[in-house]
Amino acid sequence: GKVILLGEHVVVHGQPAIVASVERGVRVTVVPRPAGEVGVALAAADERLQAAAELAARLCGVGRAGFQLEVEGDLPVAMGLGSSAALAVAVLRALSASAGRELGDAQLASSAHEIERLFHGTPSGVDSTAAAHGGVLWFESGRRGEAPRQEAIELPEPLPLLVLLSRTPHTTATTVGGLRERAAASPEVYQPVFAAVGALVASARRALEDGDRARLGELMTMNHGLLRACGVSTPELDAIVDAALGAGALGAKLTGAGGGGAVIALPADDGAALLAALRARGHDGFVARLGVAGRADVC
Ligand code: MEV
Repeated sequence: GKVILLGEHVVVHGQPAIVASVERGVRVTVVPRPAGEVGVALAAADERLQAAAELAARLCGVGRAGFQLEVEGDLPVAMGLGSSAALAVAVLRALSASAGRELGDAQLASSAHEIERLFHGTPSGVDSTAAAHGGVLWFESGRRGEAPRQEAIELPEPLPLLVLLSRTPHTTATTVGGLRERAAASPEVYQPVFAAVGALVASARRALEDGDRARLGELMTMNHGLLRACGVSTPELDAIVDAALGAGALGAKLTGAGGGGAVIALPADDGAALLAALRARGHDGFVARLGVAGRADVC
């Protein structure tokens, strides 16, 4: 899974984003079935999963071999934490391994991006890139058909970050589509806001590399204000951001598409006390450690 540290939404409009893997994720087991039979076993059935499994089989070149995919994981779904991209990458890794092949990270990211389109319409590719490559990444989606570009960002030390879950699952395609329509109707209003977020993403990269948490927190909170101005936050997400800041977070913002989903909050220390304080106020979540979550296992 992943959190977008800064730059969600604007990344769909040609600006950069910073994304980081979290330790929570998805595990897929491939169980052989009679030829041509393809199935997915998952608690919450979703017809797009069947289509995703069939597309993954084609992309992995497993031919007409039959299989059932068993999916487990500890990544909350529809919360802005990249669960569909994590699932796509896990399915691709598992299926290709079952056929005795290993896909490289670039191939994985682009195939997962193709599968992601079944779930999210026109994703930038940031989630599939994060799931395929791991670590903390600078990501640009590439304008006018150019390939996406990502660079690893080295942190001086692992960075604790609270992930706080709202009570409202979201649909990324709806939130992205709504902002796209508003931006197309008033580009003179939205494009300067997108560029302002792009500038603060660049500043945040320097803060991350310098280990300057106070500056990073300030930029995260600014990013939330601009996301709110773009209409992708909700009163519930704003209230979680305010609660985190009130409890001593250095910065807080929604993460992912908004309209529900999750908030991230930057603690001044290891985050345990901040999480306990927020739990006491009825907010649930976990502490992620950025810069340590890396590659998945294939067995
Ligand atoms: C979703 O995790 C991030 C968005 O920017 C959509 C995308 O980049 O595809 C909201």
